[in-house]
Amino acid sequence: MIDTSDRINTALTAAIRAGQAGIAPQKLAQTLEYAVTPGGARIRPTILISVARACGEDQPALTDAAAVALELIHCASLVHDDLPMFDDADMRRGKPTMHRAFSEPLALLSGDSLIVMAFQVLARVTATPDRALGLISILGDRTGMPGGICAGQGWESEAEIDLSAYHQAKTGALFIAATQMGALAAGQDPEPWEELGARIGEAFQVADDLRDALCSADELGKPVGQDDLHGRPNAVQSLGLKGAVTRLDNILAGAIASIPSCPGEAGLAQMVRAYADRMVPASARARLVPGE
Ligand code: IPE
Ligand code: IPE
Ligand code: MG
Ligand code: MG
Repeated sequence: MIDTSDRINTALTAAIRAGQAGIAPQKLAQTLEYAVTPGGARIRPTILISVARACGEDQPALTDAAAVALELIHCASLVHDDLPMFDDADMRRGKPTMHRAFSEPLALLSGDSLIVMAFQVLARVTATPDRALGLISILGDRTGMPGGICAGQGWESEAEIDLSAYHQAKTGALFIAATQMGALAAGQDPEPWEELGARIGEAFQVADDLRDALCSADELGKPVGQDDLHGRPNAVQSLGLKGAVTRLDNILAGAIASIPSCPGEAGLAQMVRAYADRMVPASARARLVPGE
């Protein structure tokens, strides 16, 4: 069986190459690669492929297209999120952010191009057009308004933030896309897979808040202490460090319980458990003061 990360990297490289082909503006062409390499955890496409495999994947090329489309949207969102008009971040994945390495106009255009590319990748799938159309629809819903990551970022411009809607849209949306697109790519009904995606997304958000509070910028390859700096509501602030870790463990137990029955159910449960350990690095857990 081909390794999941090899599948993701091969398909992602092919998509980027297609975007750089022919007579294209060279700097913008370079940004496409810069945005996706080195990769981060690639957690969303990995979940997508794992769900497709658990559902008895029969169209691997379609699964790969779905996984790449999802990762492209995620990478685009990070390029835009780092811009001075949003989080004004200097580092991402251990290197200068896009607008620092290139320019603000190129960062804006790069993010735009990557978002469009995600849908181009799915539109190029011809073998199973009905599934491809469904994948485009799910990805669109989880990217745009009213409940996608655009909406999530949009909440930061409101005077009053609906915390649950904010987190669901900002972080949860692409995890729901991951589980639902994985199921649909394998020809299964995506509907029963929403809960698993939502729960993994919720856990990821709590883990992200914990990492922001517990890890160093070197460990994460991006600035830390951002939630406090920007005055954003977060799980550590509302529950304390210990409380946030307990909450994380409870959400993940719920995630495992919510896995729909499918041929690869046991393997999926194992994957969620493995992520639980990786979401907050052992070095950061060790920094938790007993009783705090
Ligand atoms: C960071 O996502 C953005 C959030 C939604 C918190 P990841 O932590 O998955 O970023 P990479 O892809 O691994 O860099
Ligand atoms: C980024 O969220 C989420 C999206 C771009 C949708 P954050 O701003 O909280 O994540 P980091 O800390 O920059 O990765
Ligand atoms: Mg942000
Ligand atoms: Mg940010």
